[in-house]
Amino acid sequence: MAETKVYRAAIIGCGRPGGKAGATGAGISHAHANAYKQLPNVELVALADIVQENAEAFREMHGGDAIFTDYHEMIAEVRPDIVSICTWPALHEPMVIACAAAGVPMTLSEKPMSPTWAAAKRMQAAAEDAGTIVCFNHQRRFDAPYVRLRELLRDGRLGALKRMEFQTDNLFDWGTHWFDMMHFFNEETPATSILCGSDPTGGPSYFGVTMEGAGVTTVLFGNGVRAVMLTGNGTEWGAQIRVWGELGVAEIGATGWDSLRWWAPGQSDWVTETFTEKPDAFAAAVANMIEGFETGAEPELSIHKSIRATELVFGAYESARTSRKLELPLTAEDVAIRFEA
Ligand SMILES: NC(=O)c1ccc[n+]([C@@H]2O[C@H](COP(=O)([O-])OP(=O)(O)OC[C@H]3O[C@@H](n4cnc5c(N)ncnc54)[C@H](O)[C@@H]3O)[C@@H](O)[C@H]2O)c1
Repeated sequence: MAETKVYRAAIIGCGRPGGKAGATGAGISHAHANAYKQLPNVELVALADIVQENAEAFREMHGGDAIFTDYHEMIAEVRPDIVSICTWPALHEPMVIACAAAGVPMTLSEKPMSPTWAAAKRMQAAAEDAGTIVCFNHQRRFDAPYVRLRELLRDGRLGALKRMEFQTDNLFDWGTHWFDMMHFFNEETPATSILCGSDPTGGPSYFGVTMEGAGVTTVLFGNGVRAVMLTGNGTEWGAQIRVWGELGVAEIGATGWDSLRWWAPGQSDWVTETFTEKPDAFAAAVANMIEGFETGAEPELSIHKSIRATELVFGAYESARTSRKLELPLTAEDVAIRFEA
């Protein structure tokens, strides 16, 4: 019997000891390590962090034989099959490009891609030149309530998709997940235009990036589906996601993060479905990336899908800056987030 290939994984950016340490230290690296532990064909072999103690504390919890303070050295010496990049957004570009240039077969970087549109495009070009797999962690594509909502659309229970409503804290750090979910629910249909207005007052700073205080964004997709997203303080409207089909409606966030509720013809009330034993989305994402590597299929979190969400992030900011509706694809060479702390 053929032996199962074991993929050697490494993590860049181990997070502060103790894991969760507030808004600017989620320690998302722990979720990557936990994902690797669940997969019999992945072994965590190396860690890189500029703060040696962070890597040492992480190794106590998760293993990972070799520790480096320079990630370039780690990539060159260990030659891992998979690299998780768990650092702040401005560091994703040099790290993703270093992995691609070194021929790392699979790179899974945290979101958001980068604080500028130009950096996101440079990463895409580097991945394409190298021919390696580069993914960004929009892991909700594997999280049960979101998967179930798309299933309700695909099964026709809600009728054809008509409109999507989203609410969250900001367009960049959280917004990237919701822009990605718009594509997920809408069967990857490209967007054709975006219009956004934003107010800088009281904007939050996460991971070294200061964002808008509040914003309203509307996106039109090629199949006529429209999405609206409200961001920032005072924009709550009862659910984080509300999707309208021709026949029915479904919501995520109205009944907690691990559930969704939906209403379709023939029902006298909402049906609420709760996923208490749901599979780990991070482990599913890594397994899917490996499957893509082995079969040539495009991974669900591929850079080609992430760049579409990122185009909407920067399209929204550029529309707000210019006070214009923008036709897509985004033609601006670069867009940066212009808010100040
Ligand atoms: N996918 C999700 O749902 C999700 C959730 C939370 C955070 N995130 C994302 O994860 C990323 C990381 O956030 P975090 O809160 O886990 O970070 P963190 O601050 O907890 O950890 C970052 C680590 O990177 C290390 N580091 C910094 N510069 C380095 C370098 N040059 N080389 C090696 N290591 C270096 C730091 O020492 C630190 O240990 C962010 O982009 C954030 O948006 C994603």
